[in-house]
Amino acid sequence: MNGDTGRGPCILQAGTSFPLSERRMVMAEHVYPAWLGWLLVSPTRKFYMDPDRILGSYIKGGMTVLEPGCGMGFFSLPAARMAGPNGRVICIDLQPGMIAGLKKRAARAGLADRIETRVCTARSLHIEDLQGRIDFCFAIGVVHETPDGKEFFRQVAESLKPGGKLLFVEPKGPVTQENYEKAIEQAEEVGLKFRKKIVEQGGRSAIMYKK
Ligand SMILES: C[S@@+](CC[C@H](N)C(=O)[O-])C[C@H]1O[C@@H](n2cnc3c(N)ncnc32)[C@H](O)[C@@H]1O
Repeated sequence: MNGDTGRGPCILQAGTSFPLSERRMVMAEHVYPAWLGWLLVSPTRKFYMDPDRILGSYIKGGMTVLEPGCGMGFFSLPAARMAGPNGRVICIDLQPGMIAGLKKRAARAGLADRIETRVCTARSLHIEDLQGRIDFCFAIGVVHETPDGKEFFRQVAESLKPGGKLLFVEPKGPVTQENYEKAIEQAEEVGLKFRKKIVEQGGRSAIMYKK
């Protein structure tokens, strides 16, 4: 789905520690930069993307939750509260700067013990150890930034338990209706079943599940 159409402006990231070959590939993609990460955690964002409303019906106490493309954790902290003291949220991002911001915020909120962080590469979430262990995965504003949506969904699908769910949300501006539909198709191609679409002010969402 990551062709040239329907994409936001190309923003290049700097300061990564990837091998040069991977960094070139990453920099060819449209990635929201870590130096603007603080904008994503602004409290005013709640007015059009309320984490409690978006995630509240999916995350229960004790769940193991996966969040690829977590940024600085606008959704991760509420998710950790919902998962409770016996739950865990595994937060993964391409950019070390995003993960550093998330760690600080989690520590300040007293939630660091429920949040595990990982830095990934553009094509690998590095979650091979999580196969069949995830109850719920959510990916907000991420799929259109990945270089290969189908491969992204394949890794997520492998990590889900049977019956486990994926919620992905794509922003309306940078992602066209057509590319959103293509993303759903890519998820289906790797075996995820479509359950429902939700279209609202902040974006277009889809709920998928693993049979
Ligand atoms: C628009 S931001 C959204 C962050 C967060 N989900 C939120 O809503 O606040 C997209 C995030 O996805 C991350 N990202 C981009 N490509 C990725 C990839 N291939 N794997 C993992 N994370 C990626 C970016 O570094 C960035 O933090």
